[in-house]
Amino acid sequence: MCGIIGFSGTENAVPKLMQGLSALEYRGYDSAGVAYFENGSLRFVKEKGRLDKLQSKINAVGVFDTTCGIGHTRWATHGAPSDVNSHPHGTENVLIVHNGIIENYAQIKSFLISKGYVFKSDTDTETAAKLIDYHFTEIGEPIEAVRKALNTIEGSYAVAALFSGHEGKIFAFRKDNPLIAAPSLDGSFITSDISAVLKFTNKYYEISEGEIAVADKDGITFVSSEGNIVQKELQTALWSVDKTEKCGFEHFMIKEIHEEPEALVRTLSPLVYEGNIAVGDLKDDDLRQFEKIHIVACGTAYHAGLIGKVAIESLARLNVNVYYASEFRYINPILGENDLVIAISQSGETADTLAALRLAKLKGVRTLAIVNNEGSALAREAYSVFYTKAGPEISVASTKAYHVQLGALYLIALKFAGIKGTLAADEISRLTHALVNDVPDKIRETLDHKSHCEYVAKKYMNVKNMFFIGRGVDRAQCEEAALKVKEISYIHCEAYAAGELKHGTISLIEDGTPVVAIITSMTTADKMISNIEEVKARGARVILFVTEGLSIPSGIANDIIYLSKTEEIFMPFICGTSTQLMAYYMSLNLGHDVDKPRNLAKSVTVE
Ligand code: M6R
Repeated sequence: MCGIIGFSGTENAVPKLMQGLSALEYRGYDSAGVAYFENGSLRFVKEKGRLDKLQSKINAVGVFDTTCGIGHTRWATHGAPSDVNSHPHGTENVLIVHNGIIENYAQIKSFLISKGYVFKSDTDTETAAKLIDYHFTEIGEPIEAVRKALNTIEGSYAVAALFSGHEGKIFAFRKDNPLIAAPSLDGSFITSDISAVLKFTNKYYEISEGEIAVADKDGITFVSSEGNIVQKELQTALWSVDKTEKCGFEHFMIKEIHEEPEALVRTLSPLVYEGNIAVGDLKDDDLRQFEKIHIVACGTAYHAGLIGKVAIESLARLNVNVYYASEFRYINPILGENDLVIAISQSGETADTLAALRLAKLKGVRTLAIVNNEGSALAREAYSVFYTKAGPEISVASTKAYHVQLGALYLIALKFAGIKGTLAADEISRLTHALVNDVPDKIRETLDHKSHCEYVAKKYMNVKNMFFIGRGVDRAQCEEAALKVKEISYIHCEAYAAGELKHGTISLIEDGTPVVAIITSMTTADKMISNIEEVKARGARVILFVTEGLSIPSGIANDIIYLSKTEEIFMPFICGTSTQLMAYYMSLNLGHDVDKPRNLAKSVTVE
């Protein structure tokens, strides 16, 4: 969703802002803008559409000589994407860029209208900007003006602001939205996402809630809510800039699929040593007491949770519920004192997942976050953290992050199996070895044969609808495979429990309807073959993803993708990679914007 970049230094700020905005593009946006000082006055340029349009407008306006500015990519919430709704917003005295939502914008707006303010946009942000302007006009000093405004503002925000009379300074503050300050050799950055500044620096300070950061060419100062200067520890980002570049691949998505084996090894190997498994920072005594697990997550992370449920229940015989995080608060979940809530998220900033975690905490239940983004809100707020080490995932479609989430859940399942005594120690160590060694190798093998996935993708890419059927864990895999095709190919897909089709949905199967069937589970193979026959009898064209070596009748499918065989329980890794490849090649050959599918944002920071 929205992204913020700010720079104040000794060099021209605009090229730096534009590079920062370009690094933020992956988050998803519909418009962009910059604000800057020019000869002591505040100026802005903003434009609906992609960054090249903003750049043309900047060139036309002729913005060359400014060393301090802020920039923003907007993903519309309040007000349609348009030039006028784009950020920055404000007045000739105050300009701000904002991520998040001002919940009481309507009351603030009526108050300001009564004070003579006129509004140009439909955004909630404009009300915050003008409220800050109202107090700034009254007080004449930015920090106090911001404080006064924040007493009124309700909602979530990360804001970077420029004030007239304070040339060269960026004021930044946040609540429930990420924002960091990053010093570099030639100035100071403010950003909502470390990826935006990795080209210039990997050092950063966290801005705590309640603080106001003031960045200028000489450094960054933090002022507490009591008005005191706060000393902070400089952090080092673990992500490097090459992870935010395509490195010769056509898209981030295909690059990130190729990074899956390496990401898995990086995540899992440090946690497995001398027959022991570490689950994030959870101690064995903590784990022993848990009787039930509740997984909360969204989208692909939710699908990882569905597979995690199968793994934990079958290996450790521990009961697991999986919830859409967006539903968790509305179903009055039954949580016991010996329960563990696991929140899964790549970004660690997904608003629904955060809200679910907060509810669990409110109910006094222990929480574990499986999260990829270090220092993210979910990581900060959870009782324990299991960091996945996928590195930055830029493509909106989640691929390698899904694989490391699966890896984390399998490791948790094996750990619980040991704690609960449901598997013998040598079996746990055999499976753990396979997870860390054989699975990455088999994913590499899958990548070596990607051309067959491309062939199948091209054959079916022009269809309007597809069905995905499977049983047990394969049904969960269907959900993820269908999501991948839907989000980047815009083909309507329906994932279905194969045995359920004949209870209604089979009426949608007609001559030529493509049905993807997944068989990685021996126990359901025979039943799946009957279900495939049922759809074939109604004219379906069947694309079968099946573990190599599994016996299937000849002529059962129109196209078969054989999955490299590893331990049956770990087949979701291999099938996951294959179905991601099929989705990628469909989108690519349809000519879609693979990494930035329409309407979608990478981090969904609104509920
Ligand atoms: O950052 P998160 O893992 O919390 O994101 C959750 C979903 O928004 C995300 O997995 C989404 O479904 C992906 N675009 C799917 O590819």
